[in-house]
Amino acid sequence: GAHDKDWTSKLMLNTSSELGGVMRRSLFPEGFVFGSSASAYQYEGAAAEDGRGPSIWDEFAKRPGTVKDNATGDIAVDQYHRFEEDVKIMKDIGLDAYRFSISWSRILPHGRGFINTAGVAYYNRLINELHRQSIVPFVTLHHFDLPLALEQTGGWRNADTASAFAEFAALCFSLFGDRVKYWITFNEIHILAMNGYRFGIGPPGRCSASSGDCFAGDSDVEPPLVVHNALNAHALAVSVYRMKFQSKQKGLIGLIEDGSWFEPCKDTDEDRDAALRANEYWLGWILDPLFFGEYPASMRAFDHRKTLPRFTKEQSALLKGSLDFLGLNQYTSQFATYDKHSVENNDVTSSPRCNGVPIGPQAAVGWIYVYPDGMRKQLDCIRTRYGNPVVYITENGFPTNANDEPWSSQEVQDFDRISYHHGYMQSLLSAIRGGSDVRGYFVWSLLDNFEWHEGFRIRFGLYQVDIGSTLNRQAKASARWFKLMLDRVGGGG
Ligand code: NOJ
Repeated sequence: GAHDKDWTSKLMLNTSSELGGVMRRSLFPEGFVFGSSASAYQYEGAAAEDGRGPSIWDEFAKRPGTVKDNATGDIAVDQYHRFEEDVKIMKDIGLDAYRFSISWSRILPHGRGFINTAGVAYYNRLINELHRQSIVPFVTLHHFDLPLALEQTGGWRNADTASAFAEFAALCFSLFGDRVKYWITFNEIHILAMNGYRFGIGPPGRCSASSGDCFAGDSDVEPPLVVHNALNAHALAVSVYRMKFQSKQKGLIGLIEDGSWFEPCKDTDEDRDAALRANEYWLGWILDPLFFGEYPASMRAFDHRKTLPRFTKEQSALLKGSLDFLGLNQYTSQFATYDKHSVENNDVTSSPRCNGVPIGPQAAVGWIYVYPDGMRKQLDCIRTRYGNPVVYITENGFPTNANDEPWSSQEVQDFDRISYHHGYMQSLLSAIRGGSDVRGYFVWSLLDNFEWHEGFRIRFGLYQVDIGSTLNRQAKASARWFKLMLDRVGGGG
């Protein structure tokens, strides 16, 4: 109606005049995929329903003081019971794809062995509904939620967990691979290792801090070991897919890395080298083994305490080239400074500030500073270092405080979220123009959801959810902006 039209032009004006141009689908290459991303523990709920076994997140969230307001994913946003409505929302916005994860312990409650057919049935229902609505599933196999039973045998510190993962992956390929053509082994191995084994803010909550909030761990030894075992698990799963499933099912398989970008603080050789090392320690730690079969040379050179494990010849060969596409979660950037006394032990200190000046405006979570250019720079770096692989931006999103978005009949006017997406999409377009082979962009996230140790205090959704109450879904202004942007007919976005 007239009101809608009015609102639309106001919204587009707001964003386009400030940000230099209207964003629209047609600016992206033919076939470019727009989607939204989610994960099982953050969305599903139904934690104890239909035979699901516990994961390490179920146990961790119930430890007092780990999650704000003692929130858990027991109910989350109840997608388990509301997936049809959620798929309809995706369709309404005009999204082409949905990235979700399979809860390992919903399929295999004990991590290995016994198969829970009710869990299998849920994912069949979800996948079939996506197909019915012509939305392409991108499926993550491990999104931080290892079955608790496997933690009890050492979890990701135990090299055997890799074979359990490969078995789970093979089961998923055989159950769902006729309809799922985009597989992602792991989400964010780097964050998994750091949060779980250095900072203790994710399960299993290990670190060596004296704070007493963590289990005793060894934060020098464990993160490199965990990354190592997870990389080997990825390589095993990919080799099973390639040997037994890929030629018949004709799908693709990849992995997702979290991509904080590092910029030199001062314009000096020392800081430029420091930024290079910081990027190698962050992105290269995970990606060099996948492309080259070995960790970055700078990591070996600075590994004075010899905590970086070695790959066997066989492992290295299995890792090299073990991905058809790379998923990149890109939200933020930092500065790197040369510092030979650095505790990070690679002569770098990193910070979102340089001489007190932040790299961009800070968002509602401490680690996100808005720096759209970081996306292009990181993509340029990936293109040159790894020979222009196929990339999907598998996450990009803007957090707000729950208090700033109270539930009411009024639509949330989240213009900061809109300008965040607008800015990062422009940066992405310039990366594509520069030659990066980026095939898709996934927003984190369709709905407000369980934001790990932040509980429900932090909101990322294009849709608001009446958390802790009716769990009703309601579009924010950003959902309308996406819908305009994605509209194929009017191209008004
Ligand atoms: C990274 C993770 O994959 C996702 O689970 C998380 O909610 C978002 N980024 C936002 O922090």
